[in-house]
Amino acid sequence: MTKLKIAIQKSGRLHDESVALLRECGISIDNGGDKFVVQSSNFPLEVYYLRNADIPQYVCDGVADVAILGSNTCTESHTDIREVRRLGFSRCRLSIAVPREVDFTGPKWLQGKKIATSYPNSLNDFLVENGIEAEIHEISGSVEIAPNIGLADAICDLVSSGSTLLKNGLKEVYTMFRSEAVLAASPRLSADKEAILKQLTFRIESVMAAKSSKYILLNAPEEKVGHICKLIPGMRSPTILPLNEDGWISLHSVVDEDRFWEVIEQLKEAGAEGILVVSIEKMIAR
Ligand code: PRP
Repeated sequence: MTKLKIAIQKSGRLHDESVALLRECGISIDNGGDKFVVQSSNFPLEVYYLRNADIPQYVCDGVADVAILGSNTCTESHTDIREVRRLGFSRCRLSIAVPREVDFTGPKWLQGKKIATSYPNSLNDFLVENGIEAEIHEISGSVEIAPNIGLADAICDLVSSGSTLLKNGLKEVYTMFRSEAVLAASPRLSADKEAILKQLTFRIESVMAAKSSKYILLNAPEEKVGHICKLIPGMRSPTILPLNEDGWISLHSVVDEDRFWEVIEQLKEAGAEGILVVSIEKMIAR
């Protein structure tokens, strides 16, 4: 039986959420431990736990078919692996940072400077695009230390909360690009594997849609139904059930997490009461 080989981080910031996402998709896997490869018992998937920086090349070489990795790692790899879907977690940015006291006037400030980074390709692309000549000093980790020990004038590194920069007396001065976890795939997959990837993507989309929505139940006076339906139109349309009290109905619908509090205020103003909000586990629009 054909199996799709998926690479995920062995350790690092994406590992836990990558494993959790596959599990939320109903795919049974164990989280690796000492094992490099594990099989799913209920989905045609073989999971390869790999070092983050190696993942793009493994996908390119066909050792793995698809991967969950940061879009920053994809970009840095300069390979032709394709992004299938953004996954909405592990958001961060690749930024330029300088010592707090530096008066950074814009990218041109970097002209002739020494910049430490673990992302030499991305940095080089940025410098070329901006017509800047600077010296790239490649370091594989703890890049933030470089300006303090006189190794560099600036750094180019991932920033998430910003606390590592703060602790090292640096400030973020320019965001080169934003990154998040993505599902990426080899440009060359057999039809069988494309079909499994489609099933996997479908499950991921159902899980992600559920996370970004809430199921909402409320009671309202009958004459307000038209207005309330416009506020929470749901997937196709809301469900309306009679209450055991004349002139009142119960209305059920789905609402976007992002607009949730704004909508609740509008529903209250429209006369809704007894509002219940429930998490959705999976959501399949069609
Ligand atoms: C990244 C990056 C920074 C840190 C930034 O390292 O290199 O050191 O996270 O995060 P913050 O803004 O929340 O402080 P990571 O932990 O991914 O490990 P790495 O050193 O292996 O890159």
